[in-house]
Amino acid sequence: MNIAIDGPAGAGKSTIAKLVAGKLGYIYVDTGAMYRAVALALLNAKIDVTDVDAVANEITGIEITICYEDHAQQVYLNGENVTGSLRKEEVGNMASKSSAIPCVREKLLDLQRKLARENDVVMDGRDIGTNILPNAEVKIYLTASSAVRAKRRYDELIAKGETPDIDKIEADIITRDKQDMERPIAPLKQADDAVYLDSSDLGIDEVVAKIISIAEK
Ligand code: DC
Repeated sequence: MNIAIDGPAGAGKSTIAKLVAGKLGYIYVDTGAMYRAVALALLNAKIDVTDVDAVANEITGIEITICYEDHAQQVYLNGENVTGSLRKEEVGNMASKSSAIPCVREKLLDLQRKLARENDVVMDGRDIGTNILPNAEVKIYLTASSAVRAKRRYDELIAKGETPDIDKIEADIITRDKQDMERPIAPLKQADDAVYLDSSDLGIDEVVAKIISIAEK
């Protein structure tokens, strides 16, 4: 069975998807990490993301592969494990911009579909229910208000000993939502047959339980 979870940045998709996958014994596929690996390659090569030909040229020469260690997805860029470098804000912002370019999406489409064909997966991203796995048995659109998402991110950074600015975090989230929802190709949107879940006032366990009960039905 395939479970597709889409939604905006910071809605808690990866935390929730990992827990659901763990409970069901499925593989968790984080497609955002794949887009982030492409973004990292573009940043390393100092490619101007507005130059579509330069992006196309750079990505033909890169290889993204993934494997699982203790059920945790590891992303390899040209044979190097880059999983630990993908969560930076800079990489996420570049991923949001570069993922709007068709050749970047084409590069990752087969890899994502193959994983879902060969395994039971919980796959999260922006276009999984609408585009990558239109026949997924379960589709969830997981969201939360931008203020709640900013506060969660702020708390994470505080816990790491950083001194974040919550207004800037929320402004970045709003910019990213706009970019991801308004791009012409595979924009973030709720699939017609997806269940809408707003996690603003729900705990992680409640959201996980809701998704498991939808999957069991
Ligand atoms: O979920 P995330 O923050 O790791 O994703 C980073 C960016 O990658 C996101 O802003 C848009 C892009 N992305 C996408 O276009 N399609 C996906 N299926 C997953 C992510």
